[in-house]
Parts: sequence; C-alpha cells; structure tokens
Amino acid sequence: MKQKQYDIAVIPGDGTGPEVIAEGIKVVEAASRKYGFQIFCHRYDLGGERYKKTGEILSDEVFESIKAHHAIYLGAVGHPDVPPGVLEKGILLKLRFELDQYINMRPVKLYPGVEIPLKDKRPEDIDFVVIRENTEGLYAGAGGCLRRGTPHEVAIQESISTRTGVERCIRYAFDLCGQRNQAKKLTLCGKTNVLTYAFDLWERTFKEVAPDYPDIETDYAHVDALCMWMMMNPERFDVIVTDNMFGDIITDLGAVLQGGMGMAAGANINPEGICMFEPISGSAPKYAGQNSVNPIAAILAAQLMLDTLGETEAAQLIEMAVMKVLEKDLKGVTAGQMGYSTSDVGDLIVDFIESSAG
Ligand code: IPM
Ligand code: MN
Repeated sequence: MKQKQYDIAVIPGDGTGPEVIAEGIKVVEAASRKYGFQIFCHRYDLGGERYKKTGEILSDEVFESIKAHHAIYLGAVGHPDVPPGVLEKGILLKLRFELDQYINMRPVKLYPGVEIPLKDKRPEDIDFVVIRENTEGLYAGAGGCLRRGTPHEVAIQESISTRTGVERCIRYAFDLCGQRNQAKKLTLCGKTNVLTYAFDLWERTFKEVAPDYPDIETDYAHVDALCMWMMMNPERFDVIVTDNMFGDIITDLGAVLQGGMGMAAGANINPEGICMFEPISGSAPKYAGQNSVNPIAAILAAQLMLDTLGETEAAQLIEMAVMKVLEKDLKGVTAGQMGYSTSDVGDLIVDFIESSAG
C-alpha cells in the first residue's frame, strides 16, 4: 500500500518559535516512522527578521503557496523591533481570517506530574476545551480613529458578531461536546448583562441550537465570573464556547491550569479547509536562542495536527509519550525551570515513541 503523505507548511516564526517547532517536527517524524506515513515540511521564513530585511509581511504569492498544503504548523510571530500588530495582524490573523479558520480550539488539560499554583486541583479536575470564535468579534478590525494625537482624539473599536459566524461556532462546540463523552456540558461564556447586542445574539443562537443536541446540558457564565470559576472549580467545565476576545483572555488563564504557557496548544480550524496548529504562548523573545523554553506546547500542537489529519494512533502515542515524560522526567515542571533543555525534552519524547511497542 502506498504510504500516506502530508505536506506541511511550517512557519517557525520569531523568538523561541523556531526552537520549539524543531522539537515538534522531530516528534512528528518519529511518529511517522512508527506508523508508516510521510511528512514533508516546507519552511516559510515569515516573521520579524524577514520583515526587517525586506519589508515583506506575507505576500499573495507566499499565501497561495501556503494554501496548497494539508496543514500549517506555526511557532509564533511577534518581534521586539517591529511595532505591535504588524506581524500579528499581517501573518497570524491574516491566515486565520483568509483561510476561514473560524474555530480556535484550545484544550485545557492538566497532566499528572505537572505543578500548578492551585494546591487542591488534580488532573481529574482539569480537563476541558475552550472553543473560541476565531474570525469575528473585536478582532475583525472594525473601527477607526479621528484627530489622532490631539486632545480631541476619538478611537472606536467595534466588535462584530454575525448570526452565521456565531451559529457555526456554537454548533461546532455542541458537536465536540457530544464526541468528548465526558460530562456532556457546554458552557456559553459571555457578558449578557453589559454587551447587550453581541451577547444577546450569542445567547439567542445558543438557545435556538441547543434543542438539536438533547444529550448535552447547557450552562451560561459571564466572563468575569467564569474566570473565577476556572480557578475555584475547574471541574465544572467540559466545553466552553465564547467569542474571540474572551476566548483569547480565558485561554491564557487556562494555561495556568495546565502548568503554564509552555504546555498550552491550540488549533485554528476550518472544518472544510486547511487548519493551523500552534503553541499559544507567543514568541517569548527574551528566551530566544537559549534552548531553555518548554517545547511541550508545540509538541502538543503537532499532536493536534496529526489527530486532525486522521493519524489518530500516532497522535495518541504522542500524547502518551508527553504524559510519560512529564511524569517520569519532568516531574513538577514549571515554566522556565525544567531541569532539561528544549531539545532534551524533544529527545525524551522521541525516545519514548521509538521504544514503545506497536
Ligand atoms: C493568541 C495570541 C494572538 C491573539 C495574538 C498574537 C494576535 O495572543 O493566539 O492567543 O490575540 O489571538
Ligand atoms: Mn492570546
């Protein structure tokens, strides 16, 4: 039988992006050898350095070429010498929007052996998924300013929610909740008491869609209260669905429940198109070149990628390998203090994959 082949557009990006992506690729290649599929990585040197040298952010030509892949694997964008927003909007958000990756799926799962600041919470208490709408809301870029830099300056930043955009996101979250087979509970995170236009639309859509999923319990929390519940009773959550901005904020908080940004991965999903996988941490330029940051978020992003591509067994083995390494070697891992280098962690995970039966 002909081996399955996957073409991956790899954008290592800025800061520590290239270091963690290298480990993710190492792990994916080890898994591909084990399960007999082939991975072809095509690198794109997009990011701050390229922008500084050539002024290019993401040309139409490069965009078209990226589009011709099965998936995108991204490190991070963001460079201290480039004004904030240029690379983020020009690369990351452009890819999310233009490829209509309308779901940002961010698992929040605490693995055994990982230390977190909450003293009473254990792995069985922390295992939920945030579904963040990924193409609308405040991120749509609507608004403008007048008389900039004067005392009469006006700045308007509008949040856009469309019925179609909200409904497809909510339906995705219900579907996922059904597939997870856990508590089967979907929580809408909003702010219906203040944002009475946007979250009225979200809440009505949520209530209209819910009867199509009779097995799933529904729940609602205002975003501020939800932040509190996430810390006090994370076991209350199975799947959370929310808009772009709130999803951005609560998933950084979610990272705390997983052991820090070095553990948090995300998938930008277009269920009918090409998806992009990334650690959610950002480029952390302060630590670049030190071979010191935790690559597990990037490795788990690669795991989500294989799962989405249909390589379920390979994805399961990677998760198992991550769990073993966390429990055995990295016990008590906390951000920036692993006792192993970035590449050591990748090696440990590769070793586990190679030595596993199957
Ligand atoms: C994230 C990041 C991005 C976002 C930034 C880098 C634009 O924080 O993926 O969570 O806000 O979506
Ligand atoms: Mn973020």
